[in-house]
Amino acid sequence: DQARQIQETLAEFRLSKSQLLEVKKRMRVEIERGLKKESHKEATVKMLPTFVRSTPDGTENGDFLALDLGGTNFRVLLVKIRSGKRRTVEMHNKIYAIPIEVMQGTGEELFDHIVHCISDFLDYMGMKSARLPLGFTFSFPCHQTSLDAGILVTWTKGFKATDCEGEDVVELLREAIKRKEEFELDVVAIVNDTVGTMMTCAYEEPTCEVGLIAGTGSNACYMEEMRNIEIVDGTEGRMCVNMEWGAFGDNGCLDDIRTKYDQAVDENSLNEGKQRYEKMCSGMYLGEIVRQILIDLTKRGFLFRGQISETLKTRGIFETKFLSQIESDRLALLQVRAILQQLGLDSTCDDSIIVKEVCGTVSHRAAQICGAGMAAVVDKIRENRGLDHLDITVGVDGTLYKLHPHFSRIFHQTVKELAPKCEVNFLLSEDGSGKGAALITAVGCRQRELDA
Ligand code: BG6
Ligand code: GLC
Repeated sequence: DQARQIQETLAEFRLSKSQLLEVKKRMRVEIERGLKKESHKEATVKMLPTFVRSTPDGTENGDFLALDLGGTNFRVLLVKIRSGKRRTVEMHNKIYAIPIEVMQGTGEELFDHIVHCISDFLDYMGMKSARLPLGFTFSFPCHQTSLDAGILVTWTKGFKATDCEGEDVVELLREAIKRKEEFELDVVAIVNDTVGTMMTCAYEEPTCEVGLIAGTGSNACYMEEMRNIEIVDGTEGRMCVNMEWGAFGDNGCLDDIRTKYDQAVDENSLNEGKQRYEKMCSGMYLGEIVRQILIDLTKRGFLFRGQISETLKTRGIFETKFLSQIESDRLALLQVRAILQQLGLDSTCDDSIIVKEVCGTVSHRAAQICGAGMAAVVDKIRENRGLDHLDITVGVDGTLYKLHPHFSRIFHQTVKELAPKCEVNFLLSEDGSGKGAALITAVGCRQRELDA
């Protein structure tokens, strides 16, 4: 009977093919809403223009600085791109910590910290006087009016610094550089991580016209036809659109598949009511869903001898890397128990079986709904081009995709099932989005010279 009740709880997370097709269909509706002039203001999936109009063509050249803010790691990079017969990209980078009090302090503190890290990096590379062009990978939703202006729509994930929303973050960075009075930089481009990832992969593989992040957050971008992007002038060619699909469902359109555990995760978050799809399928929240289910099962007496420990009450204990370990098929149950022990959870053998099943169920749903979103995107591209069959490459990055033992496989399988007219090839980005930001900066610099 206990087993039956546990199965009933988990059944809510097991979606049928018709439910997944419904998710795909609704994503398509929201995509259209975000692209249309008359509806884009209310749209939840914002479909933000990026002013990136083509993927790299190999002629990019020069030395660039890049910042990479918003994922697991904050990095400062020096990227040396050489064009010509033997194209090469050389990268140097350093990872810096962003303390939580800086992520959630004032905007000035956050940007001063960033500039402090750039300063340290320039010292480290011996390049203080170089005045290099800089590409800023900033993995949050921004309204762009050009390549080098981005107004932060809203913070997402774990950030909540004050006085940044509604401001142009490129200006905030430039002001912080001025305050420091130590070096000069030329901020040329602001880039979402999805776009950086797409560009990095497109440099190797020209059929790559979609970028996906399955990491701390979840999001995608793709090359949309200019004629369909109603809020940007011009109808010729294509432009990359940062979908900000994490906010899918914020208008209630996914409420029928959200469980009470999803709602609890939302209520416990920094941004209640926002990023509802992201909260069902990205690394920052999967462990939280698991934790909510475990708390409920414990309250009902099915787990941990009915005792809710302080650990289980702690937000964020199940990081992606722990979920990935727990779900690894190579681990014996004893090892699963050892991991739970490490987290401070005393489990019996039966407990560990249940915990593993809970994790598996939650990550399975995540991969499937993420796949349903991607199926909507590739089918849209196929229809844009009037094709019965589309071959396309998606550039991918993110800890969930890279570390989790099953996420990528289930995700691929779902895309295949839900978009049968598309042959989708997935390419892992090896260098993060900093390289993509440098490529975009290179194009931006060239454009400036042409305009001058
Ligand atoms: C990295 C990018 O490769 O992927 C980051 O360089 C990005 O900018 C990240 O945010 C996404 O993954 P995660 O898991 O670190 O959020
Ligand atoms: C969040 C951000 C988005 C980013 C994604 C992946 O959804 O809003 O801009 O691309 O996380 O990092």
